[in-house]
Amino acid sequence: MVESGKAFAYLKINNEERMKVLIIGGNGLIGSSVVKELSARHEVLVAGRHSGDFTCDIGNEESLRSMFAKTGKVDAIVVTTGNVHWEEFSKMTAAKYQIGLNDKLMGQVNTVLIGTAFLNPGGSFTLTSGILNCDPIKAGSSASMVNGALDSFVKAAAIELPRGLRINIVSPTVILEAMPKYAPFFRGYQPVPAAIAALAYSKSVEGLQTGQVYRVGY
Ligand SMILES: NC(=O)c1ccc[n+]([C@@H]2O[C@H](COP(=O)([O-])OP(=O)(O)OC[C@H]3O[C@@H](n4cnc5c(N)ncnc54)[C@H](OP(=O)(O)O)[C@@H]3O)[C@@H](O)[C@H]2O)c1
Repeated sequence: MVESGKAFAYLKINNEERMKVLIIGGNGLIGSSVVKELSARHEVLVAGRHSGDFTCDIGNEESLRSMFAKTGKVDAIVVTTGNVHWEEFSKMTAAKYQIGLNDKLMGQVNTVLIGTAFLNPGGSFTLTSGILNCDPIKAGSSASMVNGALDSFVKAAAIELPRGLRINIVSPTVILEAMPKYAPFFRGYQPVPAAIAALAYSKSVEGLQTGQVYRVGY
């Protein structure tokens, strides 16, 4: 029996070791906050479409393979990107939905499919969805559809990933720093600072949970 006051003195904290973390979209609004949070304790590699230590287009499988060939093995892969088409439902077309399906949805799914071979045992994926599948807005049907699919994908993938790999997804409400651009579309929503959203990515990367949808700010 351990005296409660001494418990933390002998406990080894899980994932305390310095990890190598790849953040795809790490120069974006959410991604840069995740970089700030995790780089205090880990080696962080940033990937982006045009910027970062590595470049890739998550909507292109060859581009993902080529990036992972350069990064080599890592302990955690975080995706803080994903594009969709924003337009009123009456003007949406199959081709417009295909943008979000190819980029935000399959881009993240393919990151998992291809990235699995590049994760060290016990490593983790952390994906990004968003509030809109739970609380939709005008012109957001593609985002709502893709976010719902991603949340479901993560729950299913978690039970079949090999080698003790974990997977979670962060689903933030609208980010405070994005309100100058997004406010007219998100009237009545309580925004959350990017630094608060970054804590959910920290929980996913540095904790032990898997198959979780971390809803942030709602
Ligand atoms: N902002 C919000 O309020 C909010 C709320 C909830 C959910 N989300 C979701 O969170 C994700 C990130 O949003 P954000 O506002 O942080 O985006 P952001 O500021 O536009 O940043 C996106 C980042 O991703 C990179 N990128 C863009 N397309 C890419 C691609 N096809 N392949 C690889 N990298 C790509 C960009 O790289 P370069 O800089 O090199 O071009 C950029 O650094 C999105 O999926 C969004 O739907 C956002």
